[in-house]
Amino acid sequence: MARQSFRIRQRLALRRSGIHGRGVFAREHLPAGTRLIEYTGERVTQDEGERRYPWEDAASYHTLLFTVEDDLLVDGGVGGNISRFINHSCDPNCTSVIEDRRIFIESLRDIPPGEELTFDYKMITQERHTAAVKRRFPCHCGAPGCRGTLLMKKR
Ligand SMILES: C[S@@+](CC[C@H](N)C(=O)[O-])C[C@H]1O[C@@H](n2cnc3c(N)ncnc32)[C@H](O)[C@@H]1O
Ligand SMILES: [Zn+2]
Repeated sequence: MARQSFRIRQRLALRRSGIHGRGVFAREHLPAGTRLIEYTGERVTQDEGERRYPWEDAASYHTLLFTVEDDLLVDGGVGGNISRFINHSCDPNCTSVIEDRRIFIESLRDIPPGEELTFDYKMITQERHTAAVKRRFPCHCGAPGCRGTLLMKKR
């Protein structure tokens, strides 16, 4: 574990982001397909997640909750590591992989030192994703194909 956190500190840094607040940046070249960090935090049920971060009250903070499966979420806000600072992009350079009910962030392409890490939050709210709801979760990723919201299309 100590070895792993040393590797994380060697590879990744927390810095001010042009997308939002603080973000996570590569400190060294990260080849495509590298498992970079586990998204850690307290494991909670759907109800507990909703109790902690009600959609109506603090919509933006809901993004600390990462869904593993139907009734299992990881709350990066409680006991999480720096992965909780990774911002969303509509054209991300990382993705999340779920394995043995754990969440890992992996690079999708080669990432040069100094580039910010991002993944697609693919957020879904309980309500219909109307234009007004999408505006509550605006995206500032700056990608040419930015969809303008952190929410994904509902199937
Ligand atoms: C898990 S935090 C990421 C870390 C955050 N930048 C910070 O400094 O705490 C998620 C929050 O960051 C913001 N965020 C992340 N990606 C964004 C994006 N592409 N556009 C706008 N805001 C974003 C939203 O407020 C979101 O609720
Ligand atoms: Zn975007």
